[in-house]
Amino acid sequence: MSGILVFGNGWIGNKFIERYPEKARLSMVFIEKPQDLADVLDNEEPDAVLNCAGLTGTPNVDWCETHQLETAMANTWLPIMMANECAKRGIHFTHLSSGCQFYGESPDPRGWLETDFPNPAAYYSKTKAATDFVLGDLDNVAIIRLRLPVDPTPGPKNSITKLVSYPKVIDVSNSLTVIEDLLEVMDKVIEKRAQGIFHAVNPQPLVYRDLMKWYEEIVDPNHTNEWINEEELVGGGLTAKKRSTNILQNTRLPEIGILMRPTEEAVKDLLKKYAEKLNKVQQ
Ligand SMILES: NC(=O)c1ccc[n+]([C@@H]2O[C@H](COP(=O)([O-])OP(=O)(O)OC[C@H]3O[C@@H](n4cnc5c(N)ncnc54)[C@H](OP(=O)(O)O)[C@@H]3O)[C@@H](O)[C@H]2O)c1
Repeated sequence: MSGILVFGNGWIGNKFIERYPEKARLSMVFIEKPQDLADVLDNEEPDAVLNCAGLTGTPNVDWCETHQLETAMANTWLPIMMANECAKRGIHFTHLSSGCQFYGESPDPRGWLETDFPNPAAYYSKTKAATDFVLGDLDNVAIIRLRLPVDPTPGPKNSITKLVSYPKVIDVSNSLTVIEDLLEVMDKVIEKRAQGIFHAVNPQPLVYRDLMKWYEEIVDPNHTNEWINEEELVGGGLTAKKRSTNILQNTRLPEIGILMRPTEEAVKDLLKKYAEKLNKVQQ
């Protein structure tokens, strides 16, 4: 056999399979030890492996603070083992990581670069940063960092659904990843057998006030929220740990000819589809 073998029967793994059914297939095996993975790779003989498996915490990343070893095994041990088993077989390995390992102001005012050293605060972010640190230099390994994923389908993992459900929203700008663009990035990175760390974020940061304005124009004119600052988020008891608010620069994808749509265009397009899906659900 050939093609792309995807691990992680979750939100993004399934979206990739739905988008590329001819070339990608999902492994349903839960990996507990290296032999599980070796067996799957020897049976399936893929050309490339895409790791969308991991632990993001339920209902949110605060869960990882109280389940640290489980989080480390899924987010650090598992991808390192995958890279090792893929390397033994000459299989290209792509791993999904997160941009939330950077906190606050970046050394370059335009945002954090793929090569910048991370400063994670939350335990989830530490497990993602640790993996990137050791896998980022390996041949035949690509790491794709996403940030604040947004999608046309309303749902609990969709950052649009999350943000509009909060009565109080922090008044910041953040990099974001439109999932429709991310799926194409993943496919092209694999096709090019790219190496190293990539920031898969749409080029301009999303100003939350713009998002809410577009949401009210396109999806729900009755939507309202209160604006708060970052200190009020933790100080007011709304989250256990400070959330990563950051701007990432997407510099390495364009270098290899992979472009994501301008943020405003991609988000407004997504909100139109989001409104249609929401109307269908409500009818
Ligand atoms: N969603 C986000 O907001 C976001 C943002 C930035 C980065 N990411 C990264 O993107 C990746 C995918 O995220 P997602 O939102 O699609 O996560 P998800 O919906 O939680 O899916 C992850 C899947 O991985 C599976 N898994 C965990 N350990 C496994 C193992 N040992 N063997 C096989 N499967 C295993 C989980 O299975 P169980 O359900 O059985 O545990 C789950 O089905 C993660 O690495 C995440 O860190 C996500």
